Amino acid sequence: MVVGLPSSDELEGVRAAGRCVAATIVEMHARLEPGVTTADLDRVGADFLAAAGAEPAPPTVGFPAATCVSVNDEAAHGIPGTRVIAAGDLVNIDVSASLNGFYADSGASFAVGDISGVRQRLLGATQRALDEALDRVKPGALLNSVGRAVQTVADETGFIVVRNLCGHGVGGGLHEEPRAILNYYEAGDRRRFAEGQVITVEPFLSTNSDRAIEGDDGWTLRTSLGGLVAQFEHTVVVAKNGVEILTSREAQ
Ligand code: CO
Ligand code: CO
Repeated sequence: MVVGLPSSDELEGVRAAGRCVAATIVEMHARLEPGVTTADLDRVGADFLAAAGAEPAPPTVGFPAATCVSVNDEAAHGIPGTRVIAAGDLVNIDVSASLNGFYADSGASFAVGDISGVRQRLLGATQRALDEALDRVKPGALLNSVGRAVQTVADETGFIVVRNLCGHGVGGGLHEEPRAILNYYEAGDRRRFAEGQVITVEPFLSTNSDRAIEGDDGWTLRTSLGGLVAQFEHTVVVAKNGVEILTSREAQ
C-alpha cells in the first residue's frame, strides 16, 4: 500500500498491527496505579512490543521513548520519565507501532483510582465523541462529519475541542493521506471517505483549551490554558456499512 487502498493481504497486516497495539495498551493499563512512573509504563509497553516482534513508531521520528504517556493537562506526546503517577490523575497512553511493515495507532485516557466530577465527565464525553464520530464514518461520507460529531458532543457536554490535534490516514506509515481529519466542523472540507481507507479517529476534549502548545522539551503538548484533557483513538478501516475497529481492547 505504497499509495492508495490496501489489498486484502495488506489489510490483514494492518489488522495484526492493530491487535498488537491494542494489547500493548491493555498491558500498560494493567500496570497503571499510584506510585508507578511514566517510564515504568513505557518499559512495559516497549517490552511487550519487542516480544511481539513489533517496532514502536515514536523513536522513528526522534521521540525519546517507545510510547507516549501524557498526564492531566498534557494532551499528547508526553515523554515517559521519572514522573510518579498519583491517585486522581488522568493518564493518556498512546501507542503506535509497526508489525511486519504495517502501522496502527491507538490511544486512551484512563483514570487512576477513584475520580469523580469533571474528570469522570470528561472521560465519558471524550469516549462518546469517539463513538459518535465512528458512527458517521462510511464510504461516501464527508470527512467533516467526524468533526461535526465531535463538536456536537463537546457542545452538549460543555467541553472544548482541542482543534490543533486530529486524526489521519495510517497503515503503510504512521501518518498518511487523508491528513487532518479534523475534530471540529469545517464546512469547506469536501473530502469523502472511501471503502478500504485505513484511518484514525482521535478526538481530544478539554475543560478549557481549544489548542495544545508544545512544551520546552520539544515534544509534550499541553493545553494552552492548563485545563485537563482526554483523548480516545482507534485505527479503523472504512468498510461497506461503517467501520471495522482494528484496535479494540475488548478482544485482548
Ligand atoms: Co496515537
Ligand atoms: Co494518531
